[in-house]
Amino acid sequence: MKHHINGAELYIAEKGQGAPVILLHGFPLDHRMWQAQVEVLSGDYRVITPDLRGMGHSDVPDANISIEQYADDILTMMDKMDIQKAALGGFSMGGYVAFALLRKAPKRFTALLLANTRPEADGLEARKNRMNMASALYDKGASAARDAMLPKLLTEQTAKDQPGLVESLSAVMASMPAEGLVHASLAMAFRADSVDLLGAISVPTLVIAGEKDPIAPPDVMKKMADAIPGASFHAIPEASHLAPMEKPEAFNALLLEFLQGVTA
Ligand code: MLT
Repeated sequence: MKHHINGAELYIAEKGQGAPVILLHGFPLDHRMWQAQVEVLSGDYRVITPDLRGMGHSDVPDANISIEQYADDILTMMDKMDIQKAALGGFSMGGYVAFALLRKAPKRFTALLLANTRPEADGLEARKNRMNMASALYDKGASAARDAMLPKLLTEQTAKDQPGLVESLSAVMASMPAEGLVHASLAMAFRADSVDLLGAISVPTLVIAGEKDPIAPPDVMKKMADAIPGASFHAIPEASHLAPMEKPEAFNALLLEFLQGVTA
């Protein structure tokens, strides 16, 4: 359903009852990437999966966006939905937003999932690549992001074994508003470095990597987990970047066990 948040209509999916769990999607995706998690978690939790500003079914702004703006939207969303505190999960770009949320309002989160994400800011080369992506998005539409990302999201084996998954992912990515993806690319290019935040994270934290993730490689994620007090780290075998969709059973088992431990 759509909610009016900070001057924009944002789409927020919600399912189940119980302690709230907010899951933030990656680029160039939307809430649909969490479908397998929503199905399983909504038996015990109130699972909230927003489409970030400019992505999925949410409004595309005419002004530029920062990662902090996405985080402000989530905090306003929580106020509007009467959610004082929630468990928070972020996948890749959603992880960058989760870091911003922990900087802004650490007391509003009871637990943290970091999936296939990394704490460092972009270097100059990465920024330049984002600019090129923004330009390609204007030239070719959302398919520019789809074509660049699709080969990195799944292992070759998964792509071969699950043509249906490739097809549906491809359709979701091609349906994104191109200009919303431009905003997201630029927001990521100029995101803050979150390395210094890690030691200050005081909520129970689960870090999930894909063993074959080329975007947030497991060694980078292990180092991140080691810097977060008490965090647990798991690398899912035979998974690439999009571990929540590629290996939903392994992913969900880790997430459920974690949440049950936190809410017990
Ligand atoms: C994502 O999956 O959200 C993106 O790959 C993150 C990024 O490009 O840094």
